[in-house]
Amino acid sequence: MTLVVQGRHDGRLAVVTGAGSGLGRATAQRLAAEGARVACLDIAEGAAKETAEGIGDAATAHACDVSDPASVAAAVDAASADLGGLDLAVTCAGIGKLAHSHEQPFEEWSRIVGVNLTGTFLVAQAALRHMLAGGRGRIVTVASNAGLMGQPFSAAYCASKGGVVNLTRALADEYIKRNITVNCVAPGGMETPLQGAFANSIPEGASWKDLRKSMTPMGNSTPDEVAAVIAFVASDEARYMTGSIVSIDGGLTL
Ligand SMILES: NC(=O)c1ccc[n+]([C@@H]2O[C@H](COP(=O)([O-])OP(=O)(O)OC[C@H]3O[C@@H](n4cnc5c(N)ncnc54)[C@H](O)[C@@H]3O)[C@@H](O)[C@H]2O)c1
Repeated sequence: MTLVVQGRHDGRLAVVTGAGSGLGRATAQRLAAEGARVACLDIAEGAAKETAEGIGDAATAHACDVSDPASVAAAVDAASADLGGLDLAVTCAGIGKLAHSHEQPFEEWSRIVGVNLTGTFLVAQAALRHMLAGGRGRIVTVASNAGLMGQPFSAAYCASKGGVVNLTRALADEYIKRNITVNCVAPGGMETPLQGAFANSIPEGASWKDLRKSMTPMGNSTPDEVAAVIAFVASDEARYMTGSIVSIDGGLTL
């Protein structure tokens, strides 16, 4: 368990997507522990509620499919109404699956890009409207080492996460004079259900051992370790950071 910085996010009003599991849940818990009020968004509404209930009065839960513009607008607007504003957004929702690229069904490609890349844009877009109205904002996107390097059987995932990296830079540049920072955290391996989804979709002719050959001697991180980095990047201590891509991957992308 990493050390919480008491009061660092006092008064902050945050939405966290993918808050029903893994990194999103750890991030919602961490921001709340540091003083933020947090709206937990997830396509799995029950899981988002579980996270919010675990946090207590400082949290609310909202169903949201980040790939659907109407669902995102409704959830972010409702979250902002509940919280009394919005000045922080962390986009953790993400999916992935391995496949031979020459065989990957179009629907699978579209869903991965739709959730990971388009979903990040839609949530940032909806949050930006509230941040511009409030005069300040912090957006933290979540990419992956797979957004910074190639990996076999992961074309959709790598492309979507590479897109998140440069989306982050584009938004950072666009809103740099509006008191809104946009940064990206790029984890390596984390023990979460998503990692299980990759491990359970090994294409014929590949092995999980081969796919993990790029893992470092440091192995996996915990979601808490990555949430600690997100909490810093989202804080006023990181005022001078924008457009930064912060790797936390045990040296995987050295
Ligand atoms: N686990 C890893 O090894 C790893 C490594 C690098 C990056 N990441 C990234 O970290 C982020 C969090 O992943 P995780 O490992 O915590 O996975 P996870 O599966 O534990 O959590 C992902 C959450 O996103 C939600 N979600 C999925 N589709 C959604 C949608 N359309 N709308 C809203 N919510 C949706 C899921 O219900 C789930 O609660 C993802 O963006 C992932 O790509 C994970």
